[in-house]
Amino acid sequence: MSAITESVAKPNPPTNPPAATNEAGAQRFLPVHIDSLDPQVLDMDLWLRHEGQPTPALYRGAGLEVRGDELERLKEQKIEYLYIPAHQHAIYRKALTRRLDRVYADASKGKEERARIIRGNCQKMIEDVLLLPGQQEPVETISEISRTFQEWVSRDEKQFGYLLDMSSHDFYTSTHMVNVGVGCGLLVRALRPNDEAMFALAVQGGLLHDIGKRDIPPEILNKAGKLDPEEWETLRKHPAIGHAELAAFPTMPAAVLEMARDHHERLDGKGYPNGVFADQIGFLARVCAVGDVFDAITATRPYRGPTHPRDALRMMTDGVGTQFDREIFEAWRGLVERLIEEDASRTGEVVEGKVIKSLDEVTPQSPPGLTAAPATSDIGASAKIASLDNRRKFTRFIFQALAQARFVEQTRPHPVAKGQPFEVRIVDVSRGGVAAEAEWPFARGELLHLTIPAAGGRTLSRYARVVRTRSGRHGHWIMGLCFVDPPKT
Ligand SMILES: [Fe+2]
Ligand SMILES: [Fe+2]
Repeated sequence: MSAITESVAKPNPPTNPPAATNEAGAQRFLPVHIDSLDPQVLDMDLWLRHEGQPTPALYRGAGLEVRGDELERLKEQKIEYLYIPAHQHAIYRKALTRRLDRVYADASKGKEERARIIRGNCQKMIEDVLLLPGQQEPVETISEISRTFQEWVSRDEKQFGYLLDMSSHDFYTSTHMVNVGVGCGLLVRALRPNDEAMFALAVQGGLLHDIGKRDIPPEILNKAGKLDPEEWETLRKHPAIGHAELAAFPTMPAAVLEMARDHHERLDGKGYPNGVFADQIGFLARVCAVGDVFDAITATRPYRGPTHPRDALRMMTDGVGTQFDREIFEAWRGLVERLIEEDASRTGEVVEGKVIKSLDEVTPQSPPGLTAAPATSDIGASAKIASLDNRRKFTRFIFQALAQARFVEQTRPHPVAKGQPFEVRIVDVSRGGVAAEAEWPFARGELLHLTIPAAGGRTLSRYARVVRTRSGRHGHWIMGLCFVDPPKT
């Protein structure tokens, strides 16, 4: 059987969220993100929803091959989701797990790269749960991946540690839940090393703990200042909402429910939603409380850069015994210290000792990291900016040089006007971009032109977009800049 649809004239707009389910005859459908599919002979039917049509049409039947270039073509047409019949979702989940398992074991990729791919996929799994309230299948995916995490950690614990992102992530509910899931697993591994069932439960509970945040507006979640009483009231409801939603699934383990309900409770009874005391808070909920706060502090917010993991630990120390369980916090401190010791670059700082003298050692004349540079106005979601970040895909080297810079696009006022040259200090470089230090912060998405001194008196001319901003030493700011194609004039 050939594909019903070889080309798609009018694709779904990329911003369209997938329909929760569609009814075509008696079939119920679930969206699957196109990036979660491998080009291969399919064990399931793939359906495609055309713009303006309420029901999807069969795109490729089970037993037929879908090629990589076909998936690429769909993506070019801004199609993000295909659909599968709900009764085939278990086949999809198995294929996805097998695929991630291959990534985890793929020695041709670095540990960081593999972790990045796996984290991205887990994030999408959580987004599916958030997009499809009350649906069993996405929640089932989370419990399956939790068991897979269990296999991975017993196979190679050091590699598993890379799944914890300690420095370079934004505070989205989905990235946060992935990190808390990994963190809870690592904590149980440290505190109850032989309890495999508890490990999988801790991961599952961490991955789902903030599911009740689905309807909380991002303005509240990301507010820079203090929440007003009404906003605070809204935020405080998420543990109970999440608990109720998860409790509707008959097979949901009690420990997972407790983690969703009690991760903001404190030992001194000053937490929420119920203000219960230490002995009423379950072990895994106390584990979740530590992983949760650590991630909330270290993550990047729209109003500030990430906090160094060691600073986050220092900030949390005050809460030991009142907010956090001492034994769990000490285990977490030991764990974070060990992870930093194993690979200090994970804190977002460049590893000492990899100093290079010449830019040519790192960045050949045409670096491979160039990506199309969407105009600032196209970039609503910072996820799109993050997806541009090639800088961290390559080894970064310390490289001290003064570069000439000028803004090509600005999204907020700066001490320099658009086009006006100024100097920035380059602090590290990779094939994908640079980190530059300046006296004031640049906004994510802004586009600059850089002229960087290279060997032999030559210069390297590059357009670069701001992908992250964090506070540096002496009141300065460090910007991660990703090389992009020159803007079309
Ligand atoms: Fe929460
Ligand atoms: Fe949380």
